[in-house]
Amino acid sequence: MKGLTSSPRQIVSNFWQWLPTVVDRRVRAIAWVTLTIQIVVVGTGGAVRLTGSGLGCPTWPRCTVTSVVSTPELGIHGVIEFANRLLTFVIALIAVVAFLYVVRLRRRRRDLFGLSIAIGAGIPAQAVLGGITVLTGLDPWLVGAHFLLSTVIVMLSAIFLVRAYYGAATHRRVAPRWFAQLSYLAAALVTVAVLLGIVTTGSGPHAGDINTPRNGLNSEVIQLVHSYPAYLLLAVTILLVLGARRLKLEPARSYAGMLLLVEVGQVVIGIVQARLGLPIALVNIHLVLACLLVTAMTAVILSLSLAPLHERDLSSNRNRAATRVSELRR
Ligand code: HEM
Repeated sequence: MKGLTSSPRQIVSNFWQWLPTVVDRRVRAIAWVTLTIQIVVVGTGGAVRLTGSGLGCPTWPRCTVTSVVSTPELGIHGVIEFANRLLTFVIALIAVVAFLYVVRLRRRRRDLFGLSIAIGAGIPAQAVLGGITVLTGLDPWLVGAHFLLSTVIVMLSAIFLVRAYYGAATHRRVAPRWFAQLSYLAAALVTVAVLLGIVTTGSGPHAGDINTPRNGLNSEVIQLVHSYPAYLLLAVTILLVLGARRLKLEPARSYAGMLLLVEVGQVVIGIVQARLGLPIALVNIHLVLACLLVTAMTAVILSLSLAPLHERDLSSNRNRAATRVSELRR
């Protein structure tokens, strides 16, 4: 009943008090949700392209010149493209919640606060880039840039998640130099593999839709070039897993294991999709796995200098729990 008689000011004040002041379960939950939705949207965005629905809504920001929403004349392609546009609002809502959950932490956890803003800023940037891509009739380089920006947002979301568990980064390396250098080499190979993958797509049947121009590169050659850094990455990652096991480095060992698992899946799908003439389901899985790969790689790099959660966070968590218990007892 108290809520019903409260003034708007009181409600805002109560809400503010309710927001986290330490990294608690709510912050970690929103970090998981943020990363998940960013990867999901890459999958749905891929589905838009692979079903040839990129121009399902022929203009932007409206769906057609006269309608904000998809119309029956646009058929299934219009529905698919419009549904994907609507997802922007879901992502934006999640970004607002993430921002609110870390706003009271902004001094002690500037990293989380800054990351929530950067991830939020990625959404309008991505919407505008997606819009320009539509307006240019799905130029393959812009389609590629649109995906590349997504991988950057996925990387930021992965940093947000890992830091929500382990605290802000320290400049102290916890792994030996050779292990760190091997990890940086792996990260460079992931970057090259993703960039060449995007260029490979731009040359092939799924660059935009059936009528959009391709980037003019020879698909077979660029496919081959794209696979070399992938194989090299696989070899480097095996060394990382063995090294982390030998050094008993946690959490680097688990993250490198995850990286290896995703890479094996990615390489197998890559080869199979190339042999089967690029069926859209496999191409979409390859796209989503690329995001998981970026996530695992980011976690490995972060694990080189992870600090345990700030002591004050831990003690504040304990104090909060103690206060709750005494409140319940009263
Ligand atoms: C670390 C491993 C790999 C990563 C991170 C990776 C990443 C990517 C990415 C990001 C794309 C663009 C996807 C899109 O825009 O739809 C792509 C496309 C592609 N990848 Fe990979 N890839 C890897 C391994 C491989 C391997 C080993 C092959 C085997 C030949 C392969 C074959 C392809 C092909 C054929 C395409 C073009 C698909 C299309 O035309 O739609 N990939 N890859």
